[in-house]
Amino acid sequence: MIGERASRSQDRLLASVILIIFAFPGFAWTETPPPAEGPVFNMSISNVTVSVGREAVLACVVENLSVYKVAWLRVNTQTILTIASHVITKNHRIGVTHSDHRTWYLHIRDVHESDQGDYMCQINTDPMKSQIGYLAVVVPPDILDYPTSTDMVVREGSNVTLRCAATGSPTPNITWRREGGELIPLGNGQEVASIEGSVFNITRVNRLHMGAYLCIASNGVPPTVSKRITLIVHFPPMIWIQNQLVGAREGQEMTLECNSEAYPKSINYWTRDKDEIIANGGKYEPVLLDNAYKVHMKLTIRSVGPSDYGSYKCVSKNSLGGTDGSIKLYRKYVPSPTTLPGISSTTPMPTVERVEKKQRSRQKIPPSSVPNVNEVMDASKSAANRNDLRLRGRQSDESRRNDNDLSRSADVTGQQNDNTAQSMSSTGHIRFSLVSSESIVYVILIMTIS
Ligand SMILES: *[C@@H]1O[C@H](CO)[C@@H](O)[C@H](O)[C@H]1NC(C)=O
Ligand SMILES: *[C@@H]1O[C@H](CO)[C@@H](O)[C@H](O)[C@H]1NC(C)=O
Ligand SMILES: *[C@@H]1O[C@H](CO)[C@@H](O)[C@H](O)[C@H]1NC(C)=O
Ligand SMILES: *[C@@H]1O[C@H](CO)[C@@H](O)[C@H](O)[C@H]1NC(C)=O
Ligand SMILES: *[C@@H]1O[C@H](CO)[C@@H](O)[C@H](O)[C@H]1NC(C)=O
Ligand SMILES: *[C@@H]1O[C@H](CO)[C@@H](O)[C@H](O)[C@H]1NC(C)=O
Repeated sequence: MIGERASRSQDRLLASVILIIFAFPGFAWTETPPPAEGPVFNMSISNVTVSVGREAVLACVVENLSVYKVAWLRVNTQTILTIASHVITKNHRIGVTHSDHRTWYLHIRDVHESDQGDYMCQINTDPMKSQIGYLAVVVPPDILDYPTSTDMVVREGSNVTLRCAATGSPTPNITWRREGGELIPLGNGQEVASIEGSVFNITRVNRLHMGAYLCIASNGVPPTVSKRITLIVHFPPMIWIQNQLVGAREGQEMTLECNSEAYPKSINYWTRDKDEIIANGGKYEPVLLDNAYKVHMKLTIRSVGPSDYGSYKCVSKNSLGGTDGSIKLYRKYVPSPTTLPGISSTTPMPTVERVEKKQRSRQKIPPSSVPNVNEVMDASKSAANRNDLRLRGRQSDESRRNDNDLSRSADVTGQQNDNTAQSMSSTGHIRFSLVSSESIVYVILIMTIS
């Protein structure tokens, strides 16, 4: 009777392979008849999600199991895994445990991706009872080295494609961010915090794109992974100057400033006439303030003397080219309060700097704002004082000579050709023009051709 039932079940398994064979050694039916109600499932099998490499446990709860047996089957491969507390399959990652013959646990250690699928808990009633649970195997994301971009060096203006390839289950989403969290400029003038997708195209890359990017792969399975890709943008130097015309009184401390941008990093220096490089030390103090591809150049003249008036150049050079910008330092006279109102009413207001028409009167009435001059002129005791006196005298001469050309001191007039427009940029994107008019109005035209 038992053998007959067993062999009949075996035939059915071979045919449909969803039914269980109860033919393993030691199995025997009890003599007492099973309860009328028979075993029932308490609840459906919870679906389980587990990371690859971990252990998965599926639970099947049966009430009133009595003499019946619980088996676990793999549905898609049609394999019997366990029957009661015996492991049938040769897969030694499989195990079975139970608590009070009521809850039956199927254990799958070191889960493989291929273990994903449906698992059936079956009771050998006739007809059999079964229920199915699903094991989902997830794989944390991994970024593939080969198809993913490495650090790049590109010329400004070229088109750049950054790629990021990742594996994982479910398929990971790829997000691009800047390492420092800065916004990413898009071609249309907008800026975004992140870009979605495995391909990140930058059309006409510019210096603002330079920096480290993170390709972040996430699929909800920890850990999220990222790869750092550095984008280097090469471009020849450019120079910007805020004030191309700077007035200073004698004895005053004056700082000339240039802003340069270049990558690879430029060599920056200041020159005077005949391209003579201004060395550090003495009365000149060149300072460079570095910030990635930007350099702020400062040249401080501790005490402006007559020979310091004239043209200065800030020069920036790198392997892709070089450029320079000029700054003119002109002599500025101390304004005289007695003549100021009349002048201001007739002189149009210039946009940049203005040289006042009160040089002569100022010589007569030294203003209170420079008491040192008074003291020097009266005392004239030390060598330094005599020198100052001499300089003051020369200044007066120049003032008279320049009466009709109030715009500039003698030191500057020698370089009238500098009044013509001069290119400040080797690439021609930005030009500064310096124009002098009879009404002593200096206008700096900044034309952007882009
Ligand atoms: C399922 O089990 C719980 C206790 O774990 C019990 O309270 C409940 O009555 C059971 N349900 C059935 C249908 O057996
Ligand atoms: C398990 O997942 C299947 C689909 O994969 C779904 O039909 C079933 O309702 C889920 N069961 C539970 C208990 O969540
Ligand atoms: C289990 O069997 C007992 C008697 O054999 C019955 O009283 C009880 O209702 C059954 N429980 C279930 C959940 O069928
Ligand atoms: C870069 O892309 C733009 C727009 O797709 C195209 O017009 C331009 O020719 C490309 N430049 C280069 C150097 O490929
Ligand atoms: C990125 O650019 C490449 C060509 O360089 C093009 O084939 C691809 O479609 C672009 N992808 C996106 C998302 O714009
Ligand atoms: C991937 O992105 C889509 C849309 O951006 C989102 O709906 C989905 O939940 C994301 N998937 C993961 C795993 O983060």
